[in-house]
Amino acid sequence: MVGFLTLKGLYTLLVSASFLSALCAADAVGDLQKKGRAAVDTQITKSKTCTKDKLQVRKEWGDITAAEKKAYIAAVLCITKAPSKLSATTYPGAKTRYDDFVAIHIKNTLQIHGTGNFLSWHRYFTWAYENVLRTECGYNGTQPYWDWGRWASSPETSPIFDGSETSISGNGIKTTHASNGMKPAGAGGGCIEKGPFKDMKVNLGPLAALGDSTIPKNPRADGYGYNPRCIKRDVSNYLTNRDATTAKIASLITSSSNINAFQTNMQAGTGVHSAGHFTISGDPGSDFYTSPGDPAFWLHHSMIDRTWYIWQTQDFPNRQQVIAGGTSMMGGGKAQALTDYVDLDVLASQKLMIKDLVSTVDGPFCYVYE
Ligand code: CU
Ligand code: CU
Repeated sequence: MVGFLTLKGLYTLLVSASFLSALCAADAVGDLQKKGRAAVDTQITKSKTCTKDKLQVRKEWGDITAAEKKAYIAAVLCITKAPSKLSATTYPGAKTRYDDFVAIHIKNTLQIHGTGNFLSWHRYFTWAYENVLRTECGYNGTQPYWDWGRWASSPETSPIFDGSETSISGNGIKTTHASNGMKPAGAGGGCIEKGPFKDMKVNLGPLAALGDSTIPKNPRADGYGYNPRCIKRDVSNYLTNRDATTAKIASLITSSSNINAFQTNMQAGTGVHSAGHFTISGDPGSDFYTSPGDPAFWLHHSMIDRTWYIWQTQDFPNRQQVIAGGTSMMGGGKAQALTDYVDLDVLASQKLMIKDLVSTVDGPFCYVYE
């Protein structure tokens, strides 16, 4: 009996110890975010464009109210019904305002990944999306993010992917399918059939959807032809558990001592960027070019931006006007410069230099993460 109690006591101790360490891990990224905030507030007092009363706060999907989630969803659905502003000759498959974002991402794919502008380009791209939701569809909120670590053990039941009316729609229906090479085949694989985006169509691509030969081919080799089809997903916890736990995100932030290390670690095959995309998987989720066609893309890339923001704020004055890497992921480009432009075409009115896109409280931006 004494032995039993001792074992039981030991067990309780172990359980509470692991519970406590999980709690600490759950807070580790948030703690870094809080620690960095003072430097951001200092910069706001010096900013020419961003003031405290204009400051917007981006929050995690699980931390906003049902009404806020519904307002965001309504604005996204609104741009899927508004007409494209792109040339119908160059981009005949871009029918909606939403498609404009997919087309511009496809167009730039080989110059914005594994390059020196990866972080700044996607920051501006995500902001432009948030801005279009606000200015063209009356949205008053901010771009929410998906904290991979918070839901790492079960993304498919998280408020982001649970398939409810306040989710970004759920997993794809269960289909027999092969691994896409990035993770073992999960319990989905087919079209999403629940939640607000179940009827949304992917119109452009595919160009490089991994592991699914059943997707109809685009009528044009450049992927800009009209090819309407359902959104497919294969959400599972394999990659979040392996590569995007809170401990992994915190370690990426604290152990990358310069921008080159940070952007390289983030985009590695076992990094958080790949983990988020391939946790969604499917079509267009696993398609390097067409991935913004899944509305979950924006919550993922907002978290990419948040991770960069938190990394920057750990040494804010020294982590903004820094650049590393080249201009082409295929090689043969030149070294990226802070004076290189990011041009989002019909998505944003201003063509801006990278140096104006490195602070979330300067240039066109005025937001923080909480
Ligand atoms: Cu991208
Ligand atoms: Cu991405």
